[in-house]
Amino acid sequence: MNKATRKAVIAGNWKMNKTPAETTALINEMKPLVAGADCDVVLCVPFVDIAAAVEAAKGSNIKIGAENVHFKASGAYTGEVSAEMLTACGVEYVVIGHSERRQYFGETDQTVNLRTLAALSAGLTAIVCVGETLEQRELGYTETLLKYQTKMALTNVSAEQLKNIIIAYEPVWAIGTGVTATAEQADEGNGFVREAIAEMFGKEVSETVTVQYGGSMNAKNADELLSKVNVDGGLIGGASLKAEDFSVIVKAASK
Ligand code: 13P
Repeated sequence: MNKATRKAVIAGNWKMNKTPAETTALINEMKPLVAGADCDVVLCVPFVDIAAAVEAAKGSNIKIGAENVHFKASGAYTGEVSAEMLTACGVEYVVIGHSERRQYFGETDQTVNLRTLAALSAGLTAIVCVGETLEQRELGYTETLLKYQTKMALTNVSAEQLKNIIIAYEPVWAIGTGVTATAEQADEGNGFVREAIAEMFGKEVSETVTVQYGGSMNAKNADELLSKVNVDGGLIGGASLKAEDFSVIVKAASK
């Protein structure tokens, strides 16, 4: 991490887990464990859990995010939720372009960009996910792909709006597999993302953007991953469903 020029952010991505009652219980358990953290703490939860999460997190340092957002303000888009709907519910962050959405729900670089622009217009902070598959890595495409995905996601984003952008580098092969990228691989991947931002906005601006690592980050490996200069935080799946484990990661980012 380089806390001199950018914020450390630890965000949980609960994916399709927890009912509203379970949400309240887990956040109540987490609150005292993450209080006083020297990093931003975010929990991105399923839409149906947002009300419970916002209520439970009141008065604490935990901020609430959603796991997706549609790019239109309103209309005939059955099953979708707009950015304005999220902010009206007290949501401050939103995950966009997670590899599970790219893989299973037809998310493309174009829709990732549109969702990002919609989130920014509504005042949300967008956590935009990029990452290569194992096949792409083995073919030697990691740098090209990470830069392409980053640049596509940030098309038509202004330098001013970049303040509300977090990029999460999540190698697809490390998600939910228990296989973590080495700290060197995480640092390198995050570095490619930062280079892409530098190519678009200049080096100085690129040094201010928080770039997270995600993919089997846990209480045991967080310290090492977060010790790398380009790893400014984490997007945490499985370990964000356990209060103790999540708080250990938050403490690692607070150093
Ligand atoms: P895991 O931490 O469960 O590997 O998930 C990472 C992730 O996809 C976060 O968005």
